[in-house]
Amino acid sequence: QTGAFTYDPGFTSTAACESAITYIDGDQGVLLHRGYPIDQLAENSSFLEVAYLLLNEELPTRDELDKFGYTISRHTMLHEQLATFYRGFRRDAHPMAIMCGVVGALSAFYHDSTDITDPKQRMIASHRLIAKMPTIAAMAYKYSVGQPFMYPLNELSYTGNFLRMTFGVPAETYEVNPIVERAMERIFILHADHEQNASTSTVRLAGSSGANPFACIAAGIACLWGPAHGGANEAALNMLREIGRVDRIPEFIARAKDKEDPFRLMGFGHRVYKNFDPRAKVMKATAEEVLNELGVTDPIFDVARELEQIALKDEYFIEKKLYPNVDFYSGVILSAIGFPTSMFTALFALARTVGWVAQWNEMISDPEQKIGRPRQLYTGSPQRDYVPLDQR
Ligand code: SDX
Repeated sequence: QTGAFTYDPGFTSTAACESAITYIDGDQGVLLHRGYPIDQLAENSSFLEVAYLLLNEELPTRDELDKFGYTISRHTMLHEQLATFYRGFRRDAHPMAIMCGVVGALSAFYHDSTDITDPKQRMIASHRLIAKMPTIAAMAYKYSVGQPFMYPLNELSYTGNFLRMTFGVPAETYEVNPIVERAMERIFILHADHEQNASTSTVRLAGSSGANPFACIAAGIACLWGPAHGGANEAALNMLREIGRVDRIPEFIARAKDKEDPFRLMGFGHRVYKNFDPRAKVMKATAEEVLNELGVTDPIFDVARELEQIALKDEYFIEKKLYPNVDFYSGVILSAIGFPTSMFTALFALARTVGWVAQWNEMISDPEQKIGRPRQLYTGSPQRDYVPLDQR
């Protein structure tokens, strides 16, 4: 019995850590943030409201949310010298390469919030990371398309500010489309946190050594980039584009089932969800809404829906318990809004930063926490004596 839930002894003996932030039941398709179901948060909350909840354990009052939003808005700008950082990259550098570099360098500019023993500094660093990720991600996009960086405009919402920094240009006034703003809020909420996934575990392990929070989040970004993890949203849309037409789906289903073929259906399967991923359900509904409201018809969405229908009836996928995950439909929406696939994982990192900093704070503020030190099952040679070179 730990808190509100009971676990079998086998599970608790292998659990990596205790946490009160996010609860997942992979068999029932349940995802709770501080006890609140993800579909209710996605439907009713703003992204900053969820960020407050993850960081502070309770949903904010109106006054608390306003104060939190004001605090975050005080940190949206980036040190001007960091802008020159971008100019060291090639224009075709992957945005995730840029984000790894720039976020890792933040401690060189904001060292007044790197003393992890000071709760005040820990919270300032957390606010800085949440506030600056949209600016950093938008600048990576601007740099890739050769457009000037846009400074934050703090009168806009967190997400509206990000959209303007990404798609706005100095020569014109940028009007935030409320349909797009709401869809991005929902996408950010769906990606905010997800228990002890690979990148969050990376952040916790890096943080357990006492490394500064900016370095820890950079480590999380690096881990998230992999195609088996956050990189799957980019890979899933590229796969759907490669399939191209509904009549080519059987060919790819066959490849996914062929043990000799390394191909996997990107956006399908999950380490924990062996039923449906509750986020995928919300993401699919959001895709329907956004494409309808924007008047966008994308044949890729038809391919995605048909692929899901075929896979869900296929005995291989049923036996392996493979269902669409959060990454399967997100790319359809992001593409309809105008993001290139190269930005998809950067957007995942932007959103997951609130979960990473919440999990990092939970870990680092535990007086009992020790440096992480996973053990191994040794499968190498038994002890043996050295053999001189001329006797080998
Ligand atoms: C995320 O952990 C998290 O919470 C992550 C995440 C988060 O919010 O942080 O939810 C975000 O990373 C979602 C997952 C995104 N990745 C993908 O969509 C990439 C495609 N999916 C896979 O590569 C795979 O499903 C994983 C990596 C997600 C899970 O891999 P596992 O652990 O190998 O899956 P499994 O053990 O459940 O696999 C069971 C079987 C295996 O076959 P056998 O070895 O038993 O013969 O199913 C096969 C796998 O080979 N399989 C697939 C498949 N995923 C698993 N076969 C075809 N297509 C797939 N997508």
